[in-house]
Amino acid sequence: MSPDTDLEHTQTHFARAVCPGSFDPVTFGHLDIVERAARHFDELLVAILRNPSKEPLFTLEERIDMIERAVADFGNVRVDTFEGLLVDYARNHHAGAIVKGLRAVTDFDYEIQMAHMNTRLTGIETFFLPTSTDFSYLSSSLVKDVARHGGNIDGLVPEHVVLALKERYGN
Ligand code: PNS
Repeated sequence: MSPDTDLEHTQTHFARAVCPGSFDPVTFGHLDIVERAARHFDELLVAILRNPSKEPLFTLEERIDMIERAVADFGNVRVDTFEGLLVDYARNHHAGAIVKGLRAVTDFDYEIQMAHMNTRLTGIETFFLPTSTDFSYLSSSLVKDVARHGGNIDGLVPEHVVLALKERYGN
């Protein structure tokens, strides 16, 4: 069975791309990918998953605000949220490509499965960018773990996120 393709998702130049994730909270690893990806598309949508089955540390509004502050200087980046299938969001917002960062080989297994499934669903392509070596070990979960125990997270997330984490964990 061939994927349910449409013209928009099979064209070779994509004006708009989507960079999806939970961003709980956004890290310099995410922002590195966003900044580099934004150079290759007219517009980049940073799409935060609204996941009712997951209990995030930060509310959706807080996560939107954190990312918006961090990307304020990037003229072609917009922050949005989505629920349900990423491919539906991409199609509804005329985004012809998905952008993902790959940190290490451990990311690859899961990411390649999602990329293939998403292509099968609508024909949309996923573009992988290697995360900068400075941030290849970084994840939101690790940052939260370090912050929860009072460790130093300077330089891993923007200053306003450092403050938000300190406030949340009372340290
Ligand atoms: O930052 P995360 O939590 O690793 O991001 C995962 C995300 C949001 C990109 C992924 O879970 C996703 O795309 N969810 C939307 C639901 C969906 O489309 N599922 C099918 C994927 S093939």
